[in-house]
Amino acid sequence: MRQPRLYVRFIVRGRETSNFTYELANQAELAVFVANALGRPWQEIAGYIDELDGDKEFLSAVSERLRQRKGGSNKPMFGRRIGWYCIVRAVSPGVVVETGTADGLGTVLLARALARNAEEGFRGELLSFDIDPRSGWLLDESSASHVRLLIGDSAVTLPRALSGREVDVFIHDSDHSYVHEKAELALALDHAAERLVLISDNAHATTALHEICTDLGLDYLLFRERPLDHFYPGAGIGMAIVTRGVGVSMDDGQQIVGGSHPPDVDRAKGSEKGSEL
Ligand SMILES: C[S@@+](CC[C@H](N)C(=O)[O-])C[C@H]1O[C@@H](n2cnc3c(N)ncnc32)[C@H](O)[C@@H]1O
Repeated sequence: MRQPRLYVRFIVRGRETSNFTYELANQAELAVFVANALGRPWQEIAGYIDELDGDKEFLSAVSERLRQRKGGSNKPMFGRRIGWYCIVRAVSPGVVVETGTADGLGTVLLARALARNAEEGFRGELLSFDIDPRSGWLLDESSASHVRLLIGDSAVTLPRALSGREVDVFIHDSDHSYVHEKAELALALDHAAERLVLISDNAHATTALHEICTDLGLDYLLFRERPLDHFYPGAGIGMAIVTRGVGVSMDDGQQIVGGSHPPDVDRAKGSEKGSEL
């Protein structure tokens, strides 16, 4: 146990059993990571974080919804998902995909970024996928207007929903087994818009995204979050920017086939049955 004091505090005060929530000790680093990845000034990205911090109406609406659950804090703590918010604000995407809705903590944040974009004249839609019909309960009417929730195994629902569509931002956060993750990322590449921001929320645990980057000659980027006052060591944002015609052509017959390589033994430890977050 790395931090027994924090673990005891968690047992006494918190009741989350998975998908833990916490604030970040390295939020400033996250702004720099996103800025560098997107080639934008860090001040712009830090501005999106300030915008979110000051968004009392949104934060209190999420807090109100969080009151409904039995475990955990009512305070919305988005952790690395703040990076997702900044990305959606910065690139004003038309189509965002999140696989793995769960309660909807990432979903409401992405929806809020889309709402802000819409106020500025850029309309976008979030498709969020989960196998569990109880998922997405954090969404209220205002977030729901930017989101389509699709219930079912994403191995089936994702190819169906993306048929004939292009994706600007793709976030894998569903079944964290290597094979499932790689298949989702491969499908995202098949549906890449002119510029796709490809994200894996599981990049700290498997090599799926890293292998895709190596195969296609893309830069592989990884942010490791540091949870504040929490025993969980944190997850990460694995990211690649796929630009059509630069570095990799999506039309040259290259194919990434999900599950074609075994996971790296060290980094993928435990990941065949899925990592915790
Ligand atoms: C880590 S949670 C998602 C967390 C969420 N994105 C957030 O920001 O809090 C993983 C979710 O993936 C869902 N899931 C697992 N296997 C799936 C599958 N094959 N298809 C779709 N969703 C799946 C689970 O039901 C769970 O809600």
